[in-house]
Amino acid sequence: MDIRSQFNPDQLDPMETASIDELRAHQLERLKWTVRHAYNNVPMYKARFDQLNIHPDDIHSLDDLAKLPFTTKTDLRDNYPYGMFATPIDQVVRLHASSGTTGKPTVVGYTQNDIDTWANIVARSIRAAGGRRGDKLHNAYGYGLFTGGLGAHYGAERLGCTVIPMSGGQTEKQVRLITDFQPDIIMVTPSYMLNIADEMERQGVDPHKLKLRLGIFGAEPWTDELRRKVEERMGMRAMDIYGLSEIMGPGVAMECAETQDGPTVWEDHFYPEIIDPNTGEVLPDGEMGELVFTSLSKEALPMIRYRTRDLTRLLPGTARRMRRIDKITGRSDDMMIIRGVNVFPTQIEEEVLKIPHFSESYEIHLLRKGNMDGMEVHVELRPEHTAMTNDEVNGLVKQLCHHIKSSIGISVAVSVRETGGITRSEGKAQRVFDKR
Ligand code: DLL
Repeated sequence: MDIRSQFNPDQLDPMETASIDELRAHQLERLKWTVRHAYNNVPMYKARFDQLNIHPDDIHSLDDLAKLPFTTKTDLRDNYPYGMFATPIDQVVRLHASSGTTGKPTVVGYTQNDIDTWANIVARSIRAAGGRRGDKLHNAYGYGLFTGGLGAHYGAERLGCTVIPMSGGQTEKQVRLITDFQPDIIMVTPSYMLNIADEMERQGVDPHKLKLRLGIFGAEPWTDELRRKVEERMGMRAMDIYGLSEIMGPGVAMECAETQDGPTVWEDHFYPEIIDPNTGEVLPDGEMGELVFTSLSKEALPMIRYRTRDLTRLLPGTARRMRRIDKITGRSDDMMIIRGVNVFPTQIEEEVLKIPHFSESYEIHLLRKGNMDGMEVHVELRPEHTAMTNDEVNGLVKQLCHHIKSSIGISVAVSVRETGGITRSEGKAQRVFDKR
């Protein structure tokens, strides 16, 4: 099957305007191809399907997908590094890998067609966010094994942008280049955007006087509260881009400028499902659960029912007919259980950001007191509020404790650190420090 598609920067892709019937027919055709490709070329898939007595010929409808087994990160680790590739390694033109903080990294590979498809989808994503051919784009996602930098780069070039391949880090230089080159668009993690905004403040650069009009933010969970802060501080629109290396990289889903209401899943390439993380049962659209993806066009690393561990729900299409995902609440591994209550870092973020005197930087420390788990939330005052009296600061601390207690249901301790004392991120932020 020829999965290549031409990209035209000036008009939507045919699949972006296709009817639902056309889309579903296209998905079914690609699903059949993917299942056969995986079965014929990846021993793990063949063994699993044979064990369940399933053959690629048994896929007659999209509902048949539910018969297939899930794939997990452990499968990638067990088949490290190339065991899940469906093409000979000499057809793989690029590798990327996860940081692998725990155990072996997960390795992903791309054929030349995969790289082309990825560039097309990221180009489509930047256009959907409001980017246009001729825009200058500052790319502060990290280049290297992480998929963010190169993924964004190829897509931006494909759209016809002028790319500034800055990568992550060197925050002072980021500000200098943004001031000198006057990009229209920035692509970066939301937490690193705030770090750059702090550095602008330190250097006396007014972000509102810059040309920047659009930020394309992702690679980590972020709340709508944070979106409002970034938009306000930077004087630009902040759009949510979602993706993961195992499925492709950035651009699996992208929020559209017309509606700014959660990322549209590019369903012509990635088939989404939501499952109950405990039972594996497929849940109807609208219900919260774990996001699962099946790739529909990937050659080197076809993925069947990959469990992302990201928690969200599927929503009906708005700007496009393809479905959207709600903002990711968090990863199932990020869930903290504090005295029986399930808490995600994003819930704490929402409450911290409701108090304008606190900066957007925060940390969550998990502690053990006797045999009880406790949470300490570390915040800092924004520079313009550092002259507040102790009583005033205590008032804010009480307010935050009260908000967290009433909205999430847990009692926390709040510690106000020196302004600038909380480590700033240069990529994906680390919010939780488990000291138990
Ligand atoms: O973070 C790919 C990416 C790069 C996406 C740049 C967007 C922009 P990984 O390093 O494999 O790939 O991490 C994937 O990051 O499963 C989510 O948990 C999280 N994540 C990615 N985008 C978002 C987002 C890249 N928009 C993991 N909102 C995913 C929330 C996100 N979480």
